[in-house]
Amino acid sequence: MTERELCQKAIGMMDMAYCPYSHFPVGAAVECSDGSVFTGCNIENAAYGAGTCAERTALSKAVSEGHRDFVRIAIAGKSDDFCVPCGICRQFMMEFAPDIEVICLNGKGENRKFALRELLPYGFDNTWL
Ligand code: THU
Repeated sequence: MTERELCQKAIGMMDMAYCPYSHFPVGAAVECSDGSVFTGCNIENAAYGAGTCAERTALSKAVSEGHRDFVRIAIAGKSDDFCVPCGICRQFMMEFAPDIEVICLNGKGENRKFALRELLPYGFDNTWL
């Protein structure tokens, strides 16, 4: 899949978002080393802390289907700024893919790319195991 196609999938997933509290839809699409792609959206809850982000929805779908070898993830929001992942999602990605590329989109469909290690310097990982 091309980068553009991955970004389009993330953008499309904003339509699936359940975000009646924040009114801030987010879509994500993660690509694995074998080329498979898993998508997700944010899913909020009346008990606010029980909601989850689009990235973790996509990553959890992948892990639960036996995929852990993530290469890149596109994250789409409608904000002027690029939609960067929250701290919990950064840590969640660190567990499986410390070298993942994170493609963050803004509401205009423009993107900025980061290495996860840039977004989470000195991140805690499982090398102590
Ligand atoms: N959100 C995501 O899904 N991913 C991000 O990268 C940033 C924030 C969601 C969480 C919540 O449902 C809404 O956006 C507002 O914070």
